[in-house]
Amino acid sequence: MKEQFARNISIARKEKRLTQEELAHMLGLSFQAVSKWENAQTMPDISLLPEISRILDVSIDKLLGYAAQNKRITIYEDEYQTQDYYWGTEPNKACYKVLELMPPTKRLKLLDIGCGEGKDAVFFARNGYEVSAFDVSDAGLEKTRRLAEQAGVRVNAFKADILDYRLDSHYDILFSSGVLHYIKPEYRQEIFDNYKHYTNAGGIHVFNVFVQKPFIAPPPEKEPNAFAWHSGELLAYYRDWLIADSSEIVFDCNSSGIPHKHAMTKMIARNELPTIRRGRL
Ligand SMILES: C[S@@+](CC[C@H](N)C(=O)[O-])C[C@H]1O[C@@H](n2cnc3c(N)ncnc32)[C@H](O)[C@@H]1O
Repeated sequence: MKEQFARNISIARKEKRLTQEELAHMLGLSFQAVSKWENAQTMPDISLLPEISRILDVSIDKLLGYAAQNKRITIYEDEYQTQDYYWGTEPNKACYKVLELMPPTKRLKLLDIGCGEGKDAVFFARNGYEVSAFDVSDAGLEKTRRLAEQAGVRVNAFKADILDYRLDSHYDILFSSGVLHYIKPEYRQEIFDNYKHYTNAGGIHVFNVFVQKPFIAPPPEKEPNAFAWHSGELLAYYRDWLIADSSEIVFDCNSSGIPHKHAMTKMIARNELPTIRRGRL
């Protein structure tokens, strides 16, 4: 919580173009107080939160690392309200890769980032992983919990916005499908540094991301919170990790009822030290 608050207040302060000193002055505090918050040494007194939220024009939920409760920031919120599972209940093929690469022969902690209605998170839990999963959609999380309950497994499903949420404990496996395009370009380096930092040695990231191609028309769904990625960009954040697998595919999609195409980079990266890699060559 302290670390998330530290990052969020620092980002919000810079977006408002305020120095630590200016913010401290507005709150009637010394600049060291703000500096300590941003270094995750201390948290402000709870009574200061409304004033900080007002000055920085950002909700207290957001400052604390949780998505605002009432804001509809995903086009899927309505789709997830129905009984049917919009994305089905069959796991993504990449889930089987996780089983191959890191079978749960010991306790392995996995995080599904942007879990939607939970088909992948529940698959992992059924296979014996210790699963946490987050999404910004309440309806999606509700369905994730229901699917887990039906399968008789536990998934720690919680609400968070990928832009605000940062890891503060270690995982063995990070998994994300169809979600990373919600990360603004200017946040990417920091977010991937955080994901890598909190991944155990030997752990893996199994990610895919939509990429822009000049020969593919933009998708019919208009998503104001989505941002373009280009080929190779995801891999660039993993120069210091072993890329165990990567490919780029073009596929047909009918998600909005209008047939269209997507291009996607798929990547599996492993937290292996370069020296170990050299030893293997
Ligand atoms: C294409 S769906 C993929 C869902 C799931 N990963 C799957 O493959 O079934 C994208 C998901 O990202 C979630 N999402 C959108 N914006 C988000 C954000 N800012 N933070 C976290 N999740 C977000 C949506 O609610 C949606 O469930």
